[in-house]
Amino acid sequence: MWDPTQYGRYAEERARPFHDLMARVGALTPSYVVDVGCGSGELTALLGRRWPDARVEGVDSSAEMLAGATASPPRLTFTRGDARYWRPDQPADVVVSSATMQWVDGHEQVLRELVDCLAPGGWLALQVPGNFAAPSHVLLREAVARWLPTLEVRSDPVLDPAGYASLFGAAGCRVDAWETTYLQVLSGPDPVLDWVKGTALRPVLAALPVDQHDALLAEYGAALRSAYPPGEIGTLFPFRRVFAVANA
Ligand SMILES: C[S@@+](CC[C@H](N)C(=O)[O-])C[C@H]1O[C@@H](n2cnc3c(N)ncnc32)[C@H](O)[C@@H]1O
Repeated sequence: MWDPTQYGRYAEERARPFHDLMARVGALTPSYVVDVGCGSGELTALLGRRWPDARVEGVDSSAEMLAGATASPPRLTFTRGDARYWRPDQPADVVVSSATMQWVDGHEQVLRELVDCLAPGGWLALQVPGNFAAPSHVLLREAVARWLPTLEVRSDPVLDPAGYASLFGAAGCRVDAWETTYLQVLSGPDPVLDWVKGTALRPVLAALPVDQHDALLAEYGAALRSAYPPGEIGTLFPFRRVFAVANA
């Protein structure tokens, strides 16, 4: 279950890759724009502001996230749907997926199918975290191996920029793919733990009996404090992200 309040605690930091991604999308007057994995919709609403004549549709599988989204029909609407199966009801001029495809099994095939849903000259813009080899995630997988050995936490849910470039190139698109490591400067006693609570830790806590949450959080939190010690200006948390923009 997603928690929009916890996720939204770092809204500004999480929005930046969305802006960097959308800066590379050259659509001028799209009619229909889709945001797959829109969450609580604040960033989807920005798409509506950029393209005031477009119909903008946000899609997400989480009722909790969508409950926080403010629709403004008919221009801005939100739909509950699973990215593995939901497809637009008309060719889309822009498809955006920000910080979502790492959660979607078989996302490479989903991306190919979404390319097939683009209108001629349409754009698909993708952004995923690329930090699964970072200490934050390695330590999480180690904790899961001890606490929940039956829970599968993939160490490689996304491709690197070259992988997405190949995928979209093979689908007949022009591709712009890159990566960026943002240095997040965090504050507070357990800032990295607080950050991952909004995302990667969520399915782990959902699978773990509630009476074991405090013990896991204490153990994982201590490991994170060692890996990311506080410094003079705060706790430095490098966060790699992978981007790809495909133009049909
Ligand atoms: C990290 S949030 C990203 C929200 C927003 N796009 C952003 O950039 O901040 C990931 C979102 O993906 C959604 N999600 C995960 N798996 C999904 C799926 N199979 N289909 C649709 N949405 C999914 C979650 O419900 C969540 O709202």
